[in-house]
Amino acid sequence: MSAEVFSGLWSEIESIGRVSSGGYMRYALDTPDLVLRDWFRNQADRRDMPVTDDGNGNLFAWWGDAWGRDAVLTGSHFDSVPHGGGYDGPLGIVSGFLAVDQLRAAGHRPARPMAVVAFVEEEGGRFGLPCLGSRLLTGAIDPAKAAALTDREGVTFGEALGATPAGPLPGLTSRISALVELHIEQGRQLEVPVGVASAIWPHGRWRFDFTGHGDHAGTTRMADRRDPMLTFAYTVLAANKEARLAGAHATMARVEVEPNATNAIPSLVRGWLDARAADTATMDGVVDAVVKRATERAGRDGTEVAVTSESLSAEVTFDTELAARIAGMLGDAPILPTGAGHDAGVLSAQVPTAMLFVRNPTGISHSPAEHAEPDDCAAGVDALATVLRELT
Ligand code: GLV
Ligand code: MN
Ligand code: MN
Ligand code: MN
Repeated sequence: MSAEVFSGLWSEIESIGRVSSGGYMRYALDTPDLVLRDWFRNQADRRDMPVTDDGNGNLFAWWGDAWGRDAVLTGSHFDSVPHGGGYDGPLGIVSGFLAVDQLRAAGHRPARPMAVVAFVEEEGGRFGLPCLGSRLLTGAIDPAKAAALTDREGVTFGEALGATPAGPLPGLTSRISALVELHIEQGRQLEVPVGVASAIWPHGRWRFDFTGHGDHAGTTRMADRRDPMLTFAYTVLAANKEARLAGAHATMARVEVEPNATNAIPSLVRGWLDARAADTATMDGVVDAVVKRATERAGRDGTEVAVTSESLSAEVTFDTELAARIAGMLGDAPILPTGAGHDAGVLSAQVPTAMLFVRNPTGISHSPAEHAEPDDCAAGVDALATVLRELT
């Protein structure tokens, strides 16, 4: 496929949800995401691909029988992290439609159904739980629990969806024979246009509620303070240190402060820890060490800390045979692991899944600076079409 053809379709969504930072605010089921979902239905219509909704907010555009046996799925997600890049997610959906075009133009007749899928709320940017749509589809989360998740305005996922989610698809494992998710690469690892995923690091999110005594910044003596900001600050540094010592990744990047006033000692600081490692024991070890150090520090600061586990994504090893087969189809493409979570990782617990990565020249992601060259994106579409032709 030429870079021009890729860019032609890409330009249709490029400005949707883009804000002045140059990044994207595409929260699941919020206006830009709803515009993208309409765009998805239009693209499907243009290609005579009927669209089904699994009742969980995930959309499927079908080439062949909807939910016939042994379908091969390809796709990704539209939602972004706040001020995120434009490729993380949508690249996989746009590439899915373009791969269908390419296969049809070449006269391919799939022997089994194929669908382009758009998973809902992959980033957890709005309702806090990543891969919500794929967790619902596979039964990894209780629909009532998912329905009750709230966004920052107090809107529940059930309200945004307009229904209680339907939950797992009956007969999922006989209906889906494979999922191939194409995604922009998010590290600094891929030096050729296209690679294949081997594994996803286990990862999770923990909420730390630090409580102290709100008081006046001008009149409260330093010795009398019970300032949870201090405990929080210490915990941020401890997380960084523990992760470095363990060869893991730990990040505290989201924080809420009450009352969040320049001249008031806070009564509450709420911070989120994102921790990841190559294996679960290492990740758990880092989290345990951070909790221990935060608790000790709270004792010294006269504050309290309560920790809640908000999400866990288990270690994923993608179907090794499928990855090797795909790498072979693509002329010995490199096979590499990633520290980023994906819906394909959730599906991999039940069906053979694989991922294709498209080169990212700087490796930057979850940032407005995320970028992929149109030539590499076009190579990604070619690779995806090759794989889908083989699998269908
Ligand atoms: C999602 O992209 C994540 O890995 O957090
Ligand atoms: Mn992401
Ligand atoms: Mn993604
Ligand atoms: Mn992700």
